[in-house]
Amino acid sequence: MKEKARQARAENRIIGLVPTMGALHEGHASLIARAKRECSPLCASIFVNPKQFGPNEDFAKYPRTFESDCEKMKRGRVEALFVPEAAEMYPKDFSTYVYVEGLSERLEGKSRPGHFRGVTTVVMKLLQIVQPHRAYFGRKDAQQARIIMQMAGDLNLDSEIVVCPIVREPDGLALSSRNVYLNPEQRKAATVLSRALEAAKKEMEAGSRDAPHLQDTLRRKLDSERLAAVDYAEIVDAESFEPVVRVNRACYIVLAVFIGKTRLIDNLYVEPKSSGSDELVFHL
Ligand code: PAF
Repeated sequence: MKEKARQARAENRIIGLVPTMGALHEGHASLIARAKRECSPLCASIFVNPKQFGPNEDFAKYPRTFESDCEKMKRGRVEALFVPEAAEMYPKDFSTYVYVEGLSERLEGKSRPGHFRGVTTVVMKLLQIVQPHRAYFGRKDAQQARIIMQMAGDLNLDSEIVVCPIVREPDGLALSSRNVYLNPEQRKAATVLSRALEAAKKEMEAGSRDAPHLQDTLRRKLDSERLAAVDYAEIVDAESFEPVVRVNRACYIVLAVFIGKTRLIDNLYVEPKSSGSDELVFHL
């Protein structure tokens, strides 16, 4: 892979990378389609990274659908597919980690200790190996994308980090490889995340900017779903991921909710229409 990357760079080509853990869905397809428009060669990786799963998380049962993933990669005209073995990525004497302080400790980082250390370490390795000019990530994992951007800036990486919109099912559920864990009843209940975000959006459209009030709305909506157990529902600054009091700058409304044993995340990105404007633009 490194040899191929060196060659492409020597030919002044624009290398694109879509890193994945497989179990591809339309969200991944949208990253691949965007990367394909902007880069050649386009590389994608499939690696279920053990270092980003906690001891009691779903590493063993994480969906592995290699054959159909390969088909989808082919359909997306991915030119190089990088599928390393865990022992290749993490040999026995592996002992170097990348950790973004502060940002990695909040929200997802608090609920999933060690998770972001695993993510930044593997993404750093993938960027080193594939040497992409542009690497593509989904906004569903907004905190992950923000942390990777911070890492790329702090460590002067040569890769531009591109964050792409969330892709949703027609009923609003954000696409995720983990949605396959949901039984039909849970699948129905899982729409409560996007319904809660919609409810907060509606209030902001009507002029509400008060974060505690919007948070109450989120909670009420989420608590009305019998199968949902809220991990967090917060409104945070889009840069620092620290809680805000008023939604008067770029913010994320971030949710993590258990539906049965399945932990789902979702978010709504909100930003002022123009600098200093009180009018907001919503990206659901
Ligand atoms: O978002 C994911 O699928 C993973 O966290 C990533 C970025 C491929 C790293 O393993």
